[in-house]
Amino acid sequence: MKKLVSLVLLSACLLQARSQDIKMPLARFRTGDSLAWSQPAYDDAGWATLRTSESWDLQGYDKYDGFGWYRIHVIIPSSLRDHSLWKDSLRILLNKIDDADEVFFNGTLIGKEGAFPQDGGGYQSAWDQVREYHLGTASGLINWDGDNLIAVRVYDGNGAGGLFGGLPSVSMIDLIDAVKMTVEFDSVNQQGKWVSPVKVVNNSNQPVSGNLRVRIVDTDSSLVWKDQVRQVTIDPDKVIIGQMDLPRDRRLEVQVAFTEMNTGKSVGIRKTVPYILTPDPSPQPRINGASVVGVRPGSPFLFKIPATGQKPLRYKVENLPAGLRLDPATGILTGTLRSKGDYRLTVSVRNQLGEARRSLLISCGNQLALTPPMGWNSWNCWGLSVNTDRVKSSAQALIDQGLIEHGWTYINIDDGWEADSRGPAGQIIPNSKFPDMKALGDWLHGHGLKFGIYSSPGPRTCGGYLGSYQHEAQDAATYASWGIDYLKYDWCSYGEIHRESDTTLASYVKPYQVMSRALRAQKRDILYSLCQYGMKDVWKWGATVDGNCWRTTGDITDTWGSLSSIGFSQTRQYAYAGPGRWNDPDMMIVGQVGWGDHLHPTRLTPDEQYTHVSLWCLLSAPLLIGCDLSHLDAFTRSLLTNDEVLAVDQDPLGRQGRQVARSDSSQIWMKPMADGSFAIGLFNTASQYQSLTVNWASIGLPAGTYRVRDLWRQRDQGAFADSFTSRVAPHGVTLLLISK
Ligand code: GLA
Repeated sequence: MKKLVSLVLLSACLLQARSQDIKMPLARFRTGDSLAWSQPAYDDAGWATLRTSESWDLQGYDKYDGFGWYRIHVIIPSSLRDHSLWKDSLRILLNKIDDADEVFFNGTLIGKEGAFPQDGGGYQSAWDQVREYHLGTASGLINWDGDNLIAVRVYDGNGAGGLFGGLPSVSMIDLIDAVKMTVEFDSVNQQGKWVSPVKVVNNSNQPVSGNLRVRIVDTDSSLVWKDQVRQVTIDPDKVIIGQMDLPRDRRLEVQVAFTEMNTGKSVGIRKTVPYILTPDPSPQPRINGASVVGVRPGSPFLFKIPATGQKPLRYKVENLPAGLRLDPATGILTGTLRSKGDYRLTVSVRNQLGEARRSLLISCGNQLALTPPMGWNSWNCWGLSVNTDRVKSSAQALIDQGLIEHGWTYINIDDGWEADSRGPAGQIIPNSKFPDMKALGDWLHGHGLKFGIYSSPGPRTCGGYLGSYQHEAQDAATYASWGIDYLKYDWCSYGEIHRESDTTLASYVKPYQVMSRALRAQKRDILYSLCQYGMKDVWKWGATVDGNCWRTTGDITDTWGSLSSIGFSQTRQYAYAGPGRWNDPDMMIVGQVGWGDHLHPTRLTPDEQYTHVSLWCLLSAPLLIGCDLSHLDAFTRSLLTNDEVLAVDQDPLGRQGRQVARSDSSQIWMKPMADGSFAIGLFNTASQYQSLTVNWASIGLPAGTYRVRDLWRQRDQGAFADSFTSRVAPHGVTLLLISK
């Protein structure tokens, strides 16, 4: 009976449901600047029409910087106000605007973000800020049931320009806005299921009543696992908590919706359960990670043989060259090679259940980073609030959670470690958060890990800390004395030294050349990571300054927009990558990230994270984990420990993958592998499921039958004569290895 009542109530609410907001997908647009364009009476019939959800650069105004105006005409029905509970404020949501703007409503200025060049104090970008403006219904400004004009005066300083980040809308501020909901997938119970609390919070100061509906849908079979509606009243500042135990190996979608009783307005969330594809590791011994490693003659050598399998494991090496030794209990190789040459070792790892053998090539010469570096960097989680404990706890977790056994090696401190001023002899010193860099380096090396640091060729880093300008040789020597193995060298304030009028390539190369020489003068190998966001096509010259990798883009953030625009734009420089020289599309954005003290789970969906890791591996990208590893959840761990996927990145041939097919809603990327096979990613860039087909002939493969293996599932799919088809989740991927 109770169930029946709530279902009747729900349908009543659904019947009542009406448009909660008015979307504004299009606007009139022109470049230039005139305040006359803020006025409703102005005739904009001759202006262009632009989508309001993406920058003007993507709509025919590529690389246009300067002023541009949007005029959005919108009819605001009085029913929008009448069907709200509170009736007092209209919300105008414009999402983000690149870079600064003024907003006029029916000719009256209602808001401003950032600053224009002519403003006292000069130009200031507010590109990453959400624009939300509120208008009182009693203001007299709103023309109910008639035409209203929202005019937006935008100034774009550089890069993309204009409105972006979602569809602008007009809605009433209402009680429903106070209802927020979350579903979490943090912990796992003894049966190996996600323990998933659903929380619905009332942030207002009055009770809110309505229907709460929870649905769980298996998206692979479209089967509805659960569909429950109940009537609830949530008191002010109270939370309703439900709990679900959900399997980890199915792609389920949890949908939670709350419909407010008085207005019929709803809020809801949909979350894909983080479904784990990586199989549990076998108890049999297995050797993972890179099979080639570079070192310079005379430099300290350190290599931890990554291996999984039931512990204890015993390590053995045949053909160990003079100068190197192996710790048979940890698999850590150390020592020094005096002469250049290729040393071919056979590594074996044994436990009670058997033995695994593999060859390891140590190439002693000039080349480092024969496969892309893999490790952890502090920036995407801790930002400038990094400290010794935070570095050590992630390093410790990398060991304890077994990531080290899959090839993860570097522990890199990004910006924020430097003291305010140099020491008496001009030497760089760490700030109080890093009391003993040498001890930290020794501790890492003792565990088979490597140690990375960050600086800038300019006087200041991007975070405002001291850079290496005019102290390059001294800093390189200091790093070497701490045991540094990796330097990220970030352009930042070098822009102040570099004359803007000097557009020569030499002037962009110079600061990287200076530090290159300083690093080479050290008696240890310091992997050199250039960070200047791709200026002057750095992939064409990065290797000439002994760069081992170079950022090809600006900074990544944990959104699909950022991930897909960076990741899928990496094809043009593919030919420049190879052993010792890698294109770097920036660090990883899985797990707990935050760029400061407060971390949050990545905003990428599980499928977007599969896309992220798959694409980065196809791109032979440096893999630098950007999350707090001391809070590693089971899903993120599974993403970072799939050896067949990581092997695509670490393949010794070192050829970067490239885009071989694309449509508006899909892309196919392909990477040739050392053994003659091909790694292929079928990416669904749309928001719905799609069946994607890769046809051997259309991606340039010789005719014939190919064996297909699903790398995430580590499962053979069979042999296919012409093509292979896979149903791919929204923003997701199927990653394949195909071979004859
Ligand atoms: C720049 C870099 C980032 C990070 C910060 C540190 O923005 O691109 O990766 O190193 O500087 O301030």
